Amino acid sequence: MINKFDFDEGKIPSIEPDRQYFFIEEVKKKIKNIESDIGHPLTYCVTTFGCQMNARDSEKLEGILKEVGFVKESEEAADFVIFNTCTVRENANDKLYGRLGRLKSSKKTNPHKMIALCGCMMQEPSVIEKIKQSYHYVDLIFGTHNIYKFAELLYYSLISDRVVIDILKDTDKIVENLPVERKYPFKSGVNIMFGCNNFCSYCIVPYVRGRERSREPEAIIKEIKSLVADGVTEIMLLGQNVNSYGKNLDNPITFAKLLEEVEKVEGLKRIRFMTSHPKDLSDELIEVMSKSKKICKQLHLPVQSGSDNILKKMNRHYSKESYLELVSKLRKKVPDIEFTTDIIVGFPGETEEDFLETLDLIKKVRYISVFTFIYSKRTGTPAATMENQVDEDIIKDRFNRLLKEVSQIGNEETCKYQGKTYEALVEGISEHDPSLASGRLSNNVLVHFKGNSELIGQYVNVSLDECKGFYFMGSLV
Ligand code: 5AD
Ligand code: SF4
Repeated sequence: MINKFDFDEGKIPSIEPDRQYFFIEEVKKKIKNIESDIGHPLTYCVTTFGCQMNARDSEKLEGILKEVGFVKESEEAADFVIFNTCTVRENANDKLYGRLGRLKSSKKTNPHKMIALCGCMMQEPSVIEKIKQSYHYVDLIFGTHNIYKFAELLYYSLISDRVVIDILKDTDKIVENLPVERKYPFKSGVNIMFGCNNFCSYCIVPYVRGRERSREPEAIIKEIKSLVADGVTEIMLLGQNVNSYGKNLDNPITFAKLLEEVEKVEGLKRIRFMTSHPKDLSDELIEVMSKSKKICKQLHLPVQSGSDNILKKMNRHYSKESYLELVSKLRKKVPDIEFTTDIIVGFPGETEEDFLETLDLIKKVRYISVFTFIYSKRTGTPAATMENQVDEDIIKDRFNRLLKEVSQIGNEETCKYQGKTYEALVEGISEHDPSLASGRLSNNVLVHFKGNSELIGQYVNVSLDECKGFYFMGSLV
């Protein structure tokens, strides 16, 4: 049951984000009361599964939590644990249930323990049913479309003795200007659009993230300027399909034009973006990339398969040949660009010949790094009911052959830089050796070198002395 509000309901602002700022103040009061009862600050832990979009969403959740007075803690010890979930593959779901199960006992020993679930998995009705039945100790559940309402939902949860569930099927709303707690002071993700209209036949994302919605370019530029004023020099523009950015705005604009505007932001040094769909990557964009001084020399261009037959069944709208042409056009116009990709093994109906086409494509493109996935059947997607689901043993064999090929090519592509000197953005201190700093080159290659924490956030020139496969040991020059 939800208890009465502490205030007159008529006082709640109806427009956003004012409404959320109102609830932030109300939650603050509640947290203060609890803290004075227990004699120490309440703590939180946000655990993120999945992609960069989720990572950025979690920074927004942490922004609210810090604002209302929570302090960061480990998952085991935290009073408030939030799982920001992913559902792109089945094993991501299994991981969540495992983690949830382990929290059950700590709920008994800590009377203030709260558990919240949000993100893509919560957009699936079957998941909500399962949690209601088997995990009744969860306090708050919300989805991807109302993450901006977190402060309000947190308030409801604090005054309720039952689980609070708020899931929207879809939205056309974009709420800006709420607090954000960034993981890194010097680099940040920036959402430019939400949702996806592509409906690749294996993919659940369009069902859980809804239709494409682009942010206004002015709002994006304003956010980037304020990030730069706050010390950020590298940004990653985020969207499920950035190449179709701006098409649905009242004043349509292309992604290439947006990039030109971003390039002009003074003080910004590096621009990355993901994810690009090959079918929408325009000549205009290639032109902008070729002229840019800030766009990084790395492009994530998911191919998924090298077989025309499978690409068609995946609803990807390009062929192996057109993909290879795109790669060669980009290589001509943007020298030194490195490609990364996603590949799915074992899509329904994939034959040995289809798989060999994928291996052939990999050899032709020579990716510096590849994210390899075993096909996962997602209920509700067209591929889930396709005939000829591939046998598990065959998939495993193909997956191993694929890994061998991509790691060999990836190492060769990385090691070709040995002996050269490049500018690296120093991101942190090595976890394995505190005398080493770690930095990333424009092409995203990792290098470790003697250095201290004072260098973090700086751009330094590093000589790539010794290739270790997918990274380098280097030295400052
Ligand atoms: N099974 C396996 N991999 C998938 N991906 C998306 N849906 C599935 C699925 N059902 C992969 C794609 C996508 C990446 C983010 O996840 O390769 O590019
Ligand atoms: Fe999924 Fe395809 Fe959209 Fe990417 S482009 S999110 S793979 S439907």
